[in-house]
Amino acid sequence: MPEPLLEIEDLSVTAGDRTLVHAVDATVARGGSLGIVGESGSGKSLTCRSVLGILPPGLATGPRTAIRFDGIDLTALAPRDWPSIRGDRIGAVFQDPGSYLTPSMTVGRQLGEVLRVRGGLGRREARDRAVDLFAATGLPEPARVYGQYPFELSGGMLQRALIAIAICREPDLLIADEATTALDVTVQAEVLDLLADLRERHGLALVLVSHDLAVVAQVCDEVIVMRDGEVLERGTAAEVLRAPRHAYTRSLVEAHARYGIERFRSHA
Ligand SMILES: Nc1ncnc2c1ncn2[C@@H]1O[C@H](COP(=O)(O)OP(=O)(O)O)[C@@H](O)[C@H]1O
Ligand SMILES: [Mg+2]
Repeated sequence: MPEPLLEIEDLSVTAGDRTLVHAVDATVARGGSLGIVGESGSGKSLTCRSVLGILPPGLATGPRTAIRFDGIDLTALAPRDWPSIRGDRIGAVFQDPGSYLTPSMTVGRQLGEVLRVRGGLGRREARDRAVDLFAATGLPEPARVYGQYPFELSGGMLQRALIAIAICREPDLLIADEATTALDVTVQAEVLDLLADLRERHGLALVLVSHDLAVVAQVCDEVIVMRDGEVLERGTAAEVLRAPRHAYTRSLVEAHARYGIERFRSHA
């Protein structure tokens, strides 16, 4: 078997004497996809933040935790080495895209800055590349969007712009933590299609986090179900949806006829 791109082994996250995440194991193959599902407070974001090296102050991973990305031990990574990983090789998008952009700067310039500073592109090249990236993330009229300010864009457009920024360094892995949660159902489906498309076209591996099992099942092959900081169930998306082993997972499956799940089942 090829070495996985991301390997999380015995992840625990503690806050003083409280353990918030317990013994989480997960792997993501190169170009693979892992969905993390669970109710609010189940430890999904802390798991992602551990991988990204951005745990909130006062929280730490446990002594037995190993997180390997492309053979690199992230738990031992020195602060000066993080910029070559986070952003460059692991991109991330979160809920509430607006809060990750500077309100007083056009979105094109914000993407352009990353391309210039991190990618070493010249001003002109950076602009052209930014417009291409906006086009690749399905933004209509990408050249116009380039010159727009965040407040001029809808939530779905902002998330696409954030995805363009997250993938502009051509990372191997994208972590999307509730990235579609704030969007209305139609726009959510479009952004999920975009993520699936990026995976297919660019071999981008994905960690997709949602409280909504149908969202995750739409895009991911493998799923882990979390509750109270632990992995309760794991399997392929089809297995977990069709034959959930745990009552909690069944309740997640049943909880929403709201969106997608019937569509997924009819394809599965
Ligand atoms: N900065 C923090 N300090 C103390 N507890 C936290 C902190 N951040 C998260 N937690 C707790 O850790 C648990 C998991 O949180 P989180 O990973 O954000 O859940 P999820 O993303 O699944 O909603 C929750 O009980 C939450 O209250
Ligand atoms: Mg969360």
